[in-house]
Amino acid sequence: MTFISLPIDLYASMDLVDGGTAVAFDVVYAGQICRAFAVRFEGRPCAYLNRCTHVPMEMDYQPGRFFDDTGRWLLCATHGAAYRPDTGACAGGPCRGGLVKIELSEVQNVVRWHTDHHLQPVEF
Ligand code: FES
Repeated sequence: MTFISLPIDLYASMDLVDGGTAVAFDVVYAGQICRAFAVRFEGRPCAYLNRCTHVPMEMDYQPGRFFDDTGRWLLCATHGAAYRPDTGACAGGPCRGGLVKIELSEVQNVVRWHTDHHLQPVEF
């Protein structure tokens, strides 16, 4: 199977506020269009598939709201699984492994997604 690896401009850096609301985008994962999200944590942009590892459903309790009140954990609204914002690793609750991480970079005030063979843009 062929795939194309591309850097894709997602958002302006200022759209991602540390510990704040996530920004959403769509990806093709395992042949399906899925929601993904990006947040900023400790200054760095991080992105994951919006799919809990407990039950494969979207995690935000309101659109774009993933952080707990402390801004230290990403929470799943359904049963309370907690994930590390920087790695997506399970940090507590009923999660089974970590979130699917999406590679980002940030250059000249633009956050870019680097596609790979697992995660492709919807257009392809
Ligand atoms: S679906 Fe996320 S914790 Fe159960």
